[in-house]
Amino acid sequence: MKLAPSLLAADFGNLRAEAKEVEAFAAYFHIDVMDGHFVSNLTIGPPVVNSLRRGLSRPFDIHLMIDHPLTYALRFDVCPDDFISFHLEAKDDPKKVIGVIRETGAKVGIALCPATPVERVFPYLTIVDLVLVMSVEPGFGGQIFMPESIERIRFLRREVGEMPVLIAVDGGITTENIRLVTQAGAELVVAGSSIFGKTDRLAAVRALNEAAK
Ligand code: DX5
Ligand code: ZN
Repeated sequence: MKLAPSLLAADFGNLRAEAKEVEAFAAYFHIDVMDGHFVSNLTIGPPVVNSLRRGLSRPFDIHLMIDHPLTYALRFDVCPDDFISFHLEAKDDPKKVIGVIRETGAKVGIALCPATPVERVFPYLTIVDLVLVMSVEPGFGGQIFMPESIERIRFLRREVGEMPVLIAVDGGITTENIRLVTQAGAELVVAGSSIFGKTDRLAAVRALNEAAK
């Protein structure tokens, strides 16, 4: 299990220091980019994400919750180990977005909202590196995990089989449900509030890792 702390739950005025605090235990930093259209929330965009890179040594898992990934994907300075994920429900043509993300040099992810049938991602499995299963409605941290996500992850896991596609889960992850999602087949687990919402972040990360075993 790889853990991706979601910086959405961190102090935005102190992002780099907050990220540094958990860096030793993070496989990726999950960064939520929201445009106020695809979701009714606004966060940070390429300038902040690009500046944040300096001083951090883990790759980024950039989650674009925006209507037009085609317009913005190329504005991120990426490393080859980064993921950029866009939503299948966004307004741009998925094949074009995949092409543009490839052009950045990052790995490509597709994110699915809870209401989107999982099979809609199947035609893209041979051309992406990651599928991000949202286990809450995208837009805000600190929501309650939707239990039906377990079956969605399991269904996707079966279809992915031996294909080199990483399955990620995002939203409402706690020590109570992390084992359920990893057993269902999630390999990359995003967690915001259950890490940055705690005063002792290292203890929180350890507890998540322990609960996943
Ligand atoms: C929600 C974001 C998540 C969010 C998860 O739209 O995509 O990455 O940070 O936060 P928690 O873990 O608090 O549900
Ligand atoms: Zn996210």
